[in-house]
Amino acid sequence: MRAAAFTALGGPSGVEVIELSAPTPGDGQAVVDVAGASVNRHDLLYLQGDFRLQERHLPFVSGVDVSGIVRDVGDGVEGVEPGDRVVLNPMQTCGSCRDCRDGPENLCEEYSLFHGGFAEQAVVDADRLVSVPDDVDLVTAAALPVTYMTAWHMLRRADVDAGDTVLIPGATGGVGVASTQLTDAMGIRSVCTSSSPEKLDQLSTFGADELLEAADADALGEQLDGHEPVDAVLNHLAGPFTDVCLSALRRNGRMVICGRTAEKFSEIDTQDLFLGHKRIVGSTMGTQADLERMVGLCEAGAIAPSVHETYSFDDAGQAFADMQNRDVVGNLVVTPP
Ligand SMILES: NC(=O)c1ccc[n+]([C@@H]2O[C@H](COP(=O)([O-])OP(=O)(O)OC[C@H]3O[C@@H](n4cnc5c(N)ncnc54)[C@H](OP(=O)(O)O)[C@@H]3O)[C@@H](O)[C@H]2O)c1
Ligand SMILES: [Zn+2]
Repeated sequence: MRAAAFTALGGPSGVEVIELSAPTPGDGQAVVDVAGASVNRHDLLYLQGDFRLQERHLPFVSGVDVSGIVRDVGDGVEGVEPGDRVVLNPMQTCGSCRDCRDGPENLCEEYSLFHGGFAEQAVVDADRLVSVPDDVDLVTAAALPVTYMTAWHMLRRADVDAGDTVLIPGATGGVGVASTQLTDAMGIRSVCTSSSPEKLDQLSTFGADELLEAADADALGEQLDGHEPVDAVLNHLAGPFTDVCLSALRRNGRMVICGRTAEKFSEIDTQDLFLGHKRIVGSTMGTQADLERMVGLCEAGAIAPSVHETYSFDDAGQAFADMQNRDVVGNLVVTPP
């Protein structure tokens, strides 16, 4: 089978199509004929070499978000059969640590992610597959796990309700568009930001209520100066954006952080934090039930995941270049031939 693999670290030129032997399922596993695999910033960070991937791991097939049709199942698999339309929750948990037992399961101390979606076939844990109804497009479903499931879990962590206002800095990417669509579906008012007026314009079609153009954190601070305080912030940018967004929160407001797209470290005004009774919480991925809910929302027509563009294996490097160049609104999906 063919795969779009990382053969060198550094950037998009390190993505190449390679030939691999077809996988067979082990106990508890399923082999899925891949319909689509989303490109996430996690994949880009791996490719850029600033995460855990090293030269000795190459060639490496990334791709954590997989949808497709089950080809084969291994021993001990129940409830999943060849021919099933599925999407994978890439969360891998031990099922036995204290956090798994207490829940939610994404707290697992042994937590890891599946990789291997940028291939014609993916061998996955069968119990992490979620059924995709016939009227939900499979390629679109590939956009659901990392971005929509994460955004949904962040909204839960933010403890927001209909009528609240949520600030979404960097709203044009995968997590940002998912957050925008989900807040819209929940009756929450969204304040969405981007450095690009062209990309901001497109956010209105996803239900954004207010659009703020800001080239950087300082410019966003100026835009938010005098703005009505928000109930919550979904922050995947970090860096200098964290303090700016902290200032935008109302008293007792919540900021949920899931990423470090701008910078890993943030300096904050702790006095603003404690005098304002504000909360900053971390969030990573979501639960199987969260992903099932996202598929259900698609089926009900409450959300329609945005696939900015699909790319063939041969063009997978271009998908990474587009993400790196911030030339994207929503999700990018690689589709096998
Ligand atoms: N913890 C988790 O479970 C989890 C899950 C999913 C994602 N994440 C993290 O969340 C982040 C977003 O992921 P994604 O897939 O949505 O990425 P993405 O699609 O590449 O997001 C692009 C967005 O980030 C903004 N952006 C990019 N570089 C920036 C910079 N240097 N300064 C300010 N804004 C910048 C872009 O703004 P413009 O519109 O201005 O270009 C755009 O809105 C990543 O850090 C990812 O690792 C974490
Ligand atoms: Zn565990």
